[in-house]
Amino acid sequence: MTRPSVRLVLVFAAVRMAAQTTRSVENVFQPASTPAHQIFDLSILVLAICAAIFLVVGGLLTYTLIRFRRRASGDGHEPAQVYGSSQIEIAWTVIPILIVLVLTMATARVISAVQNRVAPADAVQVTVVGHQWWWEFRYPGFGIVTANELHVPLSTAAQPKLTFLKLQSADVAHSFWVPRLAGKTDLIPGRTNEMWMEPKQQGTFLGNCAEYCGTQHANMLLRVIVQSPEQFDQWVAQQKTAGATEAAVQSGRALFLSLSCINCHTVSGTAAVGTFGPDLSHLMSRDSLGAGVIPNSPSNLRSWIQDPQVSKPGNLMPNMQLNDKELDQVVAYLASLR
Ligand code: CUA
Repeated sequence: MTRPSVRLVLVFAAVRMAAQTTRSVENVFQPASTPAHQIFDLSILVLAICAAIFLVVGGLLTYTLIRFRRRASGDGHEPAQVYGSSQIEIAWTVIPILIVLVLTMATARVISAVQNRVAPADAVQVTVVGHQWWWEFRYPGFGIVTANELHVPLSTAAQPKLTFLKLQSADVAHSFWVPRLAGKTDLIPGRTNEMWMEPKQQGTFLGNCAEYCGTQHANMLLRVIVQSPEQFDQWVAQQKTAGATEAAVQSGRALFLSLSCINCHTVSGTAAVGTFGPDLSHLMSRDSLGAGVIPNSPSNLRSWIQDPQVSKPGNLMPNMQLNDKELDQVVAYLASLR
């Protein structure tokens, strides 16, 4: 095997590996939901038309370059020039108009099919609120609220089930994009946009914020979990039983606001407005504690509060001397700040 062919094989292997690793992740070429399918079909049509134009133009150009090249045996004169051919002029006017017409009509058809879809009575309704830098998901029909992980039911021919999203923003512009399920739609402050999906495949589909929204835009990730109708109903029921921990969160909130924590930290919407330490309003949306010292989890949060000096000696957060019960309450509250 010669060296260039070795290199070629390596390039092919790399491309194949990249294609495989992105298979189940974010790939507009593997739609798994109705609007994504329609968009995919349209983009293939546009790609095919553009490829045909490229081949015709590129082919004619190549033919002309070779056919009319300067030859050693030539007399040095240019070939015959054609002026004022109405046939050619009509052709290069009409053909592009027809192509643009086809592209326009095909695009308008898909846009209207996606935008004008009316929500059936049994559709799952979700209000999505974009925050810096996380997602809030409200299900008004079920009375549940969650964050960053959207659960939706599978749609089958026997049991069609659509999910309609109302998109809003709490601060700046964001954009909701899960490539395998639907096209992206912006979340604009002071406005409600809408989109829908009809997932035909179970599993977890990844997406992200697709509109630059600040420092942690790149970490404003989201996942959509498509479940069978039975699993989805179970999830809804489980989300509704959060009442047991709710009491702990409430007492933790009261305890937190009674401590001197609030002199240094802010939790938006509460009396905690300190600016000396990090803002805790969306503490659990962060991956790490102590500026990257330990991963963020309730147990790590608990040991951090128990004695911040163990994980990061010399930092300015004091040991609050909380007992075990108080620690549980404060952690329960802080762990709810997403
Ligand atoms: Cu939210 Cu970018």
